[in-house]
Amino acid sequence: MEFLDLAKRRASVRAYQKRSVERAVLEQVLEAGRIAPTACNRQPVHLLVAHTPESVAKVCSAANLYGATAAIVVCAARAQAWVRSYDGFNAAETDAAIVTDHMMLQAEALGLGSVWLCYFDPDKLRRELQIPDELEPVNILALGYSAQEAADPERHKNLRVPLEQLAEFI
Ligand SMILES: Cc1cc2nc3c(=O)[nH]c(=O)nc-3n(C[C@H](O)[C@H](O)[C@H](O)COP(=O)(O)O)c2cc1C
Repeated sequence: MEFLDLAKRRASVRAYQKRSVERAVLEQVLEAGRIAPTACNRQPVHLLVAHTPESVAKVCSAANLYGATAAIVVCAARAQAWVRSYDGFNAAETDAAIVTDHMMLQAEALGLGSVWLCYFDPDKLRRELQIPDELEPVNILALGYSAQEAADPERHKNLRVPLEQLAEFI
């Protein structure tokens, strides 16, 4: 499948089957995250993979996973990330977002549903998963087999700003 077709087909899934995600499938998702680019190749990202009912329940106590049976908590290590010397910009969260996006698209390619979550209680998540101070939970990628109707791949015609508004040739 062409990349653009895959990207158009992907949509946030907020209803999941009870079926759990096979470990081998999760490993392919994680591999897509592993190979993602990061600033200066510093790789300041650590992934906590909740894939058992117990660990998923811990994540659920801090976030609405919409019934997903797996969740990857994407953590950034700010001290390990590249910093722009001009102004101190730290690339940790950008790097974490690229890793998340790679995994989200790989999930789609494997027939998994997903939803990217930023609305969670970070303190609660830290406590539940015993996340050390040097890691900052940035995103959660909820994963599972979708229980909702597939989204129309042409929906972006209405749901995204037109190209002329998004980009200008200079
Ligand atoms: C950075 C980021 C944070 C998001 N946080 C949430 C969230 O906390 N809860 C949620 O239901 N969806 C969340 N989403 C999903 C967006 O709402 C969704 O991607 C957007 O509305 C476009 O819809 P689509 O994914 O179906 O194309 C988030 C997406 C991104 C990229």
